[in-house]
Amino acid sequence: MEHLAQRYQQHISELNRRVADVLQREQLAGLVIHSGQPHRQFLDDMNYPFKVNPHFKAWLPVIDNPNCWLLVNGVDKPTLIFFRPVDFWHKVADLPDIFWTECFNIKFLEKADQVAPFLPADIERWAYIGEHIDVADVLGFKLRNPEAVMNYMHYHRATKTAYELVCMRRANQIAVQGHKAAKTAFYNGASEFEIQQSYLAAIGQGEEEVPYNSIIALNENAAILHYTALEHQSPIQRHSFLIDAGASYFGYAADITRTYAFSKNRFDELIVAMDKLQLELVDMLRPGASFTDIHIANHQKVAQVLIDFEFALGDPQDLIAHGITSVFFPHGLGHMLGLQVHDMGGYLHDERGTHIAPPEAHPFLRCTRTLEANHVVTIEPGLYIIDSLLAEIKADQRHQLVNWQTVDAFRPFGGIRIEDNVVVHQDRNENMTRECGLID
Ligand code: GLY
Ligand code: MN
Ligand code: MN
Repeated sequence: MEHLAQRYQQHISELNRRVADVLQREQLAGLVIHSGQPHRQFLDDMNYPFKVNPHFKAWLPVIDNPNCWLLVNGVDKPTLIFFRPVDFWHKVADLPDIFWTECFNIKFLEKADQVAPFLPADIERWAYIGEHIDVADVLGFKLRNPEAVMNYMHYHRATKTAYELVCMRRANQIAVQGHKAAKTAFYNGASEFEIQQSYLAAIGQGEEEVPYNSIIALNENAAILHYTALEHQSPIQRHSFLIDAGASYFGYAADITRTYAFSKNRFDELIVAMDKLQLELVDMLRPGASFTDIHIANHQKVAQVLIDFEFALGDPQDLIAHGITSVFFPHGLGHMLGLQVHDMGGYLHDERGTHIAPPEAHPFLRCTRTLEANHVVTIEPGLYIIDSLLAEIKADQRHQLVNWQTVDAFRPFGGIRIEDNVVVHQDRNENMTRECGLID
């Protein structure tokens, strides 16, 4: 914890610096950042799991306490209004005895709807940052999530502080333990559901704590990009296993994917080829590189793999031009990672919010930014047998470019994705996932 504590002060200084900068530019007095409110389930007396406002957890690792508020102006010590009701039904959040508390003036709020006296007297020039516009209205905020402030924050959030990098390395460390347990469970014959239980037990996090729903897919289910069904029954024959699963640490996410073959076969060789390709793409990351260019380079590489494994005929350029690579690899190469799995800011070209859309031929690319030191991205190439997309090729001239026997042979394996979390440094890349021990 020592490590983190030292870096935390600098993290808060950096956030204060950003706030001071944007407030001055926008002629605002400060930001009032709301942790959020519980959402009630329809016709029920229970709430959905609470998901904290990412702008709140950027300041402090409190992710499970609604009705908290932060008052920041970039100059004064931030004020934390910490919700601590008198309640004998639910667990009441104790103020943790932990390093971050000394960075805030802390006040306690007993009743969620009585925050008004804690807010600045003149809130005309204070902006509400949060999800609950109705609450902001009642409190009299005229400025709610001003676009210029949001763009500025989202743009700069891509550049991680040293504290954030420590959190993200720990999230990776935790997730890697889960991936190792899941791999063992797969080779021991577990069902998708059982693999998920092994994964969660190994990371010590519940389904509501992980940053996204795990994708745990056996055999042809690996071709379903957002597969979250988790079959309880083990398949009779076991061919392949794709796991896309993460972990959280202090509100920061890991997002990791691996694919395994049950036997040494052609699919296993394809995994080896995709692993090599993935590492080559990681090597292309550097300050000044365009993420879009690396995504497009992946299409070249996937085209070559399709030729080498006799999925497709012709030359790589033709396969790309005819949309063949997009059928086998339909998603984006990766995205910014941090407080959110798909972190905000992937399309922002500058702090004023200039948006760079993905190229028309690549609509699912989530990051078009020019990379800088201390950006954290995922690199996640894939190759899948997706029949609904293949049907489009089959129906026209392009069917000649595909070797349908190979497609049939690989269909039972579903597909492959390999995903690492990488920090771009000035002089090198830090592949957090592999450095935490998930080598292949
Ligand atoms: N797990 C979601 C993604 O890889 O983007
Ligand atoms: Mn991802
Ligand atoms: Mn993922």
